[in-house]
Order: sequence, then structure tokens, then C-alpha cells
Amino acid sequence: MRLILMGAPGSGKGTQAEKLMDDFGCRQISTGVLLRQAIESGSELGKKVQKIMSEGLLVSDDIVLDLINNELSEIGESGFLLDGYPRNINQAKSLNDLLKNIDKPLDYSILIDVPSEILIKRLSGRRTCSLTGKTLNIYFSSENEIDECLSKGGELLQREDDNEESITKRIEVYEEQTEPMVDFYRSTGLLHTIDGQGSVDDVYIRLKKLMEL
Ligand code: AP5
Repeated sequence: MRLILMGAPGSGKGTQAEKLMDDFGCRQISTGVLLRQAIESGSELGKKVQKIMSEGLLVSDDIVLDLINNELSEIGESGFLLDGYPRNINQAKSLNDLLKNIDKPLDYSILIDVPSEILIKRLSGRRTCSLTGKTLNIYFSSENEIDECLSKGGELLQREDDNEESITKRIEVYEEQTEPMVDFYRSTGLLHTIDGQGSVDDVYIRLKKLMEL
């Protein structure tokens, strides 16, 4: 299975990707995760992108293309799930060329559609369990899910860019740069849209139905 998950910040790309990986073993490639790992490791790349990411802006197309190139070169037959890439028309065209070269065409490109007022609440409430790395939410996760992390001594960590200023900027950048790219996929006939409102499980059922899984 080879797919792209698209959607605004907070639309649930990462959450749905975690579920697809658990159930179907396909590999998630998230440029956001790869860039945050670079920052944590203190690498030159991390130092270069830290400020840009904390401000909610996009890092350069060359940097993310390099990351994607490396990851896709290691992909076998299990397929991949791109989360957060591509994010503008230039990146979408580069990806098209890359996939053509390695003869791995996309099966699906899926847009998770969520109104912006919901995005802000999801992003400001997002936390990650320090023990398991599971994505949680102080407003939407069940008490059991939160307790499962805390009772084992885990902490609920907040992403550096999940503050009001950066969230507003990321949504603005999405509307200006990523939405036109969605139209690009629409024009190629490759785009499927699902409603991203409702519970995580509701959205996952819609996703699987669309993919006939
Ligand atoms: P990235 O890490 O990709 O962040 P993002 O696009 O802002 O997306 P998010 O991870 O915030 O949202 P998501 O859709 O995955 O939501 P999630 O599932 O976590 O990028 C970060 C930065 O890296 C960018 O700003 C940029 O600087 C840089 N970057 C990355 N890729 C780049 C690229 N290609 N080019 C250039 N720069 C790039 O869900 C959010 C919360 O909501 C969670 O708490 C979750 O539990 C909750 N939730 C999810 N679904 C539901 C639901 N149905 N009901 C209730 N709660 C829900």
C-alpha cells in the first residue's frame, strides 16, 4: 500500500497513520518526525531547521526532498505512508518524479478534512506520552488512555510548536501553500477526501472504507 495522507495541522494525519501502521505494517514516513529527530540529535540539520519550525514556517524544499529520498530508497515491498509530505506544489512535482524513477506509483492520496476551529483545540490539547510516544489529547483522549501513560510514570509532553502563535501561523501556511497543492492532486483525479470530524475511531472507519480494507 502506497499512500499520502494530507490535511491541515491537527487534522489527524499522524494519529490515523499510527493506526494504519499498527494494523497493516506499512511504514510511516513523516517529515515532521524526521525533522524533530534531527533537532533532538543536535545535528547540523537540526540546528538549521529549529527556528523555522518553531515559527510554524516550512523548511526548504531541498531539505525535505533529501529526507524523503533517503527514506524511500530503503522501502521494500511493504509500502509507505507519507504524512506531512508533500506540502506545496513544488514538493508534489518532485515526489511525482521520484516515484516514477523508482517505479512505485501511489495507490491513494487522501485528504482529511477538518474545520479550523476544531484544529486549534486539537493542537493546543495535543500531548505525547514520554514512555510510549503515543499521541494523546488532554481534551479528547479518554481518562483511561491518559492514565495508562501517567500511572506508569510517563509524562505528557507538549510539542514546541503547539503554542498559539505557531499554531496560527501553521494553519495560515497550510491555507496559502498546501491547499493549492491539494487542488493539484484533485486535478490529476488522484484525490480522495474524508471527513475528519468525530472520534479517532469514526475517522479510521471512514479511511478503511475508502481504501476497501
Ligand atoms: P508536522 O509534524 O507535519 O506537523 P503538522 O503538519 O503541523 O501536523 P501535525 O503533526 O500538527 O498534525 P496531524 O495532522 O498529524 O495531527 P495529529 O494526528 O497529531 O510538521 C511540523 C513542522 O515541520 C512544519 O510546521 C514545518 O516547519 C516542518 N515540515 C514538516 N514537513 C514539511 C515539509 N514537507 N516541507 C516543509 N516543512 C515541513 O492530531 C492532533 C491532535 O488531535 C492529537 O492530540 C490527537 O490525539 C488529536 N486527534 C486526532 N484526531 C482526532 C479526532 N478524530 N478526534 C479528537 N482528537 C483527535
